[in-house]
Parts: sequence; C-alpha cells; structure tokens
Amino acid sequence: MRYAAQKGTRDILPEEIYKWHKAEKMFADVCHSFGFEEIRIPTFEQTDLFQRGVGDTTDVVTKEMYTFDDKGGRSITLRPEGTAGVVRSYIENGMSSLPSPVRLFYNITAFRYEKMQKGRYREFHQFGLEAFGATGPSIDAEIISVVDVFFKRMGLANIKLCINSIGCPECRKQYNELLKDYFRPHIDTMCEDCKARFERNPLRMIDCKIDGPKEVVQNAPRLINHLCDECRAHFEGLKSELDALDIKYEIDPNIVRGLDYYTRTVFEFVSENVGSQGTICGGGRYDGLVGLMDGPATPGIGFAMGVERFLLEAEAQGIDLGKPQYVKVYFAAMSDEGKNKAMKICHDLRLAGIGCEQDVADRSFRAQMKYAGKQGIPYLVVLGDDELASGIVKVKCMEDGQETEVKIDDLKTFLEGK
Ligand code: HAM
Repeated sequence: MRYAAQKGTRDILPEEIYKWHKAEKMFADVCHSFGFEEIRIPTFEQTDLFQRGVGDTTDVVTKEMYTFDDKGGRSITLRPEGTAGVVRSYIENGMSSLPSPVRLFYNITAFRYEKMQKGRYREFHQFGLEAFGATGPSIDAEIISVVDVFFKRMGLANIKLCINSIGCPECRKQYNELLKDYFRPHIDTMCEDCKARFERNPLRMIDCKIDGPKEVVQNAPRLINHLCDECRAHFEGLKSELDALDIKYEIDPNIVRGLDYYTRTVFEFVSENVGSQGTICGGGRYDGLVGLMDGPATPGIGFAMGVERFLLEAEAQGIDLGKPQYVKVYFAAMSDEGKNKAMKICHDLRLAGIGCEQDVADRSFRAQMKYAGKQGIPYLVVLGDDELASGIVKVKCMEDGQETEVKIDDLKTFLEGK
C-alpha cells in the first residue's frame, strides 16, 4: 500500500524550504530588533487550557480541535494556536516577576480540523508574538509595527491593515444587551450556532459565516460605536501612534476575531491573494487572559501570522526569495586515489564552514562532471594525477569559465572569499 499525506497536511519539500528559512530568519531578526525573545512551547497541552483560554463558544474549540485521550487517560489537545500555551508558560515560569513588558515570539505548527482550501490547512504554521505587562496603546502600535517591518524587509507591499476595538468587559456588558435587543426579533431566522451564541456570546453573532439573514447581521450595532471612555481613549491613542509611524490602516468595525480572549484592540492584515478569508495575520489585546488562567492580572497583546499564507502572498507579489547555493565547489576525481584526496579536502573545508561535494556514488569521471553541472555548483576542481603530484589545482568558475591555480593547502582561504 502506498501512503499519502493526511488531508490538510503537506510536505514542505527542499525546492521550497529555502523560502521558509528566509522568512523564519527574517521574522526572528525583526523580533530581536524590537527586544522580543524566542519561546518554544509544547505541541500539545491539556484540553481544558484551550477550552478556558480560547473560549468554549468559539469554532476553534467546539469544532476544530484535535483532542484525544492519552494512554494515561488525560484529555490532550494539539495546539490550535500559540497564545494559550504561551500564557500558560508565562504564568508557570513566573515571568510576571521579570521587567515588563515581557516580549516573547514563536514559530510553531498549529492544528485545526478545518475544511481544506487555498491557504487553509489542518496542520499549518504560525509566526507569532505575545507581549505582557504593558497597558497603554504604545505596545499595540509596536506589535503592529513588527508586522509592518517584517513585511517591508521581506519586500512585500500593499497588505491592508484593518483595526477595530471590541472594548472591555464593562462596555461589552452594555453592548451585549443592546445586541441581544437588536437580534431578539430575528433570532428564529438565525443559524443554530447563533441561537446558542445569543445567550452565551452575542458578539460572536456578527462574525457569523453561515449564509443567513446577511442584512440583519450587517445592520447590527457595532461595539466600536459603544465604547466606554477609557476604551475609546485607548483606541484614539493607537490611531495616533500608527499615524506617527506612518502605518496606514482602515477601521473595520466588523473584526471581532475568532477567539474569545480579546479585549480592546483587534487587528488583521488582509490580502486577496491568500484564499477566501484573506487574513494573513491577526491579533489583538487580551487584558483578561492571564487572570482568567489563574495568573496575576496582567495585560497582554499579540498576533499570529499564517506562514503558508504569508508565502502565498509573497509569491503573488512576485518576491524572489533567492534560493541559496550551499555547495560552493565540486571535486571531480579521475582515480580512487583522487577520490580519497577529495574526501579529505572536503572534510577540511566543511570544518571551515565551506560547502563542497565529492563523488559518493561510484560515478565515472564524466558522470561526476555531469552531476556537478546539473546541480549548478558554481566552482569545479578536477583532481587528476598531476594535481595530486603537485598539490596545486585549478579552480574553475562555471559561470565565466575562468580558471585559477590554487595550492590545495590554500583552498580554504581562496574559497572563503567566494
Ligand atoms: P488566528 O486568527 O486564529 O489567531 O490565526 C492567526 C493566523 O493563522 C491567521 O490569520 C491565518 O493566517 C493563520 N491560520 C489560521 N488558521 C489557519 C489554517 N487552518 N490554515 C492556515 N493558516 C491558518 C490566533 O491564532 C491567535 N493566537 C493570534 C494571537 C496571538 N492573538 C494574540 N496573540
């Protein structure tokens, strides 16, 4: 029987992995340049962490989690996102005693049982970050500018930033009543999910993805117009900080985000190139989450970017992510003695960090030359009897055909500059 990758999973093959490396390195570099440090969290956590953290009225928790009992009878879930795990780690490792803000970034796989489509997988990757301990809008602007700097340094342009505020528990309490009054006469026409949301989490009803009475949802009051004074001031503060950074944005009152922990600022970077939902990166503030998880009351904010979607966008924008040539030089040998010498030379060069190859497949001399050409290795050295006797080789540049005589002992110095 031939096996196939599971639905919603994909192999990342050598022909594309270099793009991942480039994006991963740039994301880490950009995060470091803001003072963020990397955290690695486990792939699975106890199920309850996500039920409580992400919220048990969300689609992610009710429909999409990979949950199973392990052999010890514990309910385990493959992380559907990174925030809950990072918050758990922040609390468990006593990071609240560190100077704030505590800035953490991550590069993770995540798992959601979703319908496969362009830009949507069951195993996918996220670049993300979380910042703990800062209350004012400056940190909101800072993390948005992390995404802005990352996109720009990767060469991407024109990705739309949409921002919104979904208020704090105080303003939301009043707004929820308003929303319920609005939806009550229409409740019979709403989908089953929305009927359940009506009591438990009416805000989620304006994010209904099911074909229903669209105009009812469209005309529903939006929280941005019912913020309390403090939430409004926070939002105004964010807008002026973004203006000062010259980061363009649109206010989109429809963004409520699919996870329950958000308060105040929410934002998404969107593009038409990455599939029907179009969100490359989403995030926001979660001032109640650390407390909800029984940690010390601490404000937090973060985002996650779908790496697959980011790469789709980069491709659509024609960004050349430049495949690196790790192997610089090929040693083609005419005899067994030459092959032995090539092996030793390669070993020494690799110790110095220089990529090189020699034959390990018992190829003829001609076949070795053909192989080196096919691989596009930029320099070629032939080891024949003369070269072995003299200890001097000709290094041929395959691009312009130029040959340079170099002592075998000097190869390292010569190649280092190439
Ligand atoms: P999220 O909006 O659920 O937020 O996911 C963030 C990003 O992950 C999305 O914008 C999308 O690019 C990508 N993504 C989500 N689901 C899939 C999928 N099935 N296939 C491919 N890509 C996907 C979070 O996960 C929050 N933890 C973000 C956050 C961090 N908020 C605060 N801190």
